Amino acid sequence: MGLISCNKILTVGVQRFDEDHHQLVAIINQLHKAFKSGEGMHSIQLALQQLDSYTCYHFHAEEELLAQHDYPLLEEHQKAHQDILSRFAELQAEFHASPAAMQQNLMQFLLDWLISHTKTVDQKYGLFLNSRGIY
Ligand SMILES: [Fe+2]
Ligand SMILES: [Fe+2]
Repeated sequence: MGLISCNKILTVGVQRFDEDHHQLVAIINQLHKAFKSGEGMHSIQLALQQLDSYTCYHFHAEEELLAQHDYPLLEEHQKAHQDILSRFAELQAEFHASPAAMQQNLMQFLLDWLISHTKTVDQKYGLFLNSRGIY
């Protein structure tokens, strides 16, 4: 079993984004497995790259749909995404400088942002999009 299960992530009620969040959980679990199994830097690097690109894809997809529907909290949401991406980039750099010391911090950050952003910031657009007939 992975580090976190999908049911820890509240559904936002929009199918394509619920699927994205599940995919993010799967990649974070894969990274956790790479850390724990001693598969080496290659597997860790691969999982980090996947997480990087999937996160960018997902944030962009949310922002695009929300912009199309004139979501009133779009700017705030974009700012939250930007903050996550910059912190993730900083932590990756710190991780590469000292992998053993930073492993725990990196995992903790990933779990915190995924769970708290999805449960709070994303949750708000779920209700908004549902009210526009998007599920
Ligand atoms: Fe999201
Ligand atoms: Fe988001």
